[in-house]
Amino acid sequence: MGKVIVVTSGKGGTGKTSLTGGVASCLAALGHRTLCIDMDIGLRNLDLSLGMSDRALMDFTDVLAGRCPLERAAVCHPVIHNLYLLTAPLTVPPSGFSQRALLAMLHHAREMYEYIVVDCPAGLGSGFHLAVCGADRAVVVSTNDSSALRDAQRTVMELYRYMNTIHLVMNRIQPKLMRRLRTTIDDAMDAAGLPLLGVVPEDSQVMLAANVNQPLVLYARKGAVHAYLNIAKRLMGERVPLMKIH
Ligand SMILES: Nc1ncnc2c1ncn2[C@@H]1O[C@H](COP(=O)(O)OP(=O)(O)OP(=O)(O)O)[C@@H](O)[C@H]1O
Ligand SMILES: [Mg+2]
Repeated sequence: MGKVIVVTSGKGGTGKTSLTGGVASCLAALGHRTLCIDMDIGLRNLDLSLGMSDRALMDFTDVLAGRCPLERAAVCHPVIHNLYLLTAPLTVPPSGFSQRALLAMLHHAREMYEYIVVDCPAGLGSGFHLAVCGADRAVVVSTNDSSALRDAQRTVMELYRYMNTIHLVMNRIQPKLMRRLRTTIDDAMDAAGLPLLGVVPEDSQVMLAANVNQPLVLYARKGAVHAYLNIAKRLMGERVPLMKIH
């Protein structure tokens, strides 16, 4: 049965979508059939991060409403063959949808994919609860500023209602800046109250790759992509040392 991993943060703009796309494409490139689900209704961006804009015609609400089977709504990446995207709608459907329908869809997805990586919207509203309710584990993405870390801690309190396996990824790390601020990754783990899954460096290639509609794994060889690969391997259960960030 496949595993459902939700990528969340509380605060907006911490790098959830970039991490979802990056880690999912690494899981797929490592040979695992992987489905990414964009649950950011109205503000979807995962297609850009995967280099799949305009490919997905149906979205996850079409599956929930029974208009389209999951097999047809989830589209395969043109280059990374194990990678699939189920996108989000551009507007909230007037009829809404039930958690029960979502759990049924995830149950079906677990039979078809080894990993299902869910990109959660910012905030702790109904979109958050929908995105996390069916997950086995969560990855909380934070940058190293006190507001992001405080929001991460609040998010963790909500996540414990649904699951016990929750890890932290520290994103956009700049060692020079951390030295100036006299802060460490250990301090961040204490602030968020979470064990660490990975550290991703500040890397302009994340934005550049999305801007030319290419997944980072096909665009760059080092930097953030290396960190995403290590995180993917840790999610697979491998022990991988933390990468050195200069
Ligand atoms: N490691 C990184 N280095 C440099 N830029 C990054 C990194 N990670 C993400 N970014 C940039 O930060 C911005 C926000 O990233 P992203 O869209 O992934 O965040 P998000 O948490 O999904 O945002 P939202 O809450 O709005 O959904 C983007 O411009 C992205 O290119
Ligand atoms: Mg996002």
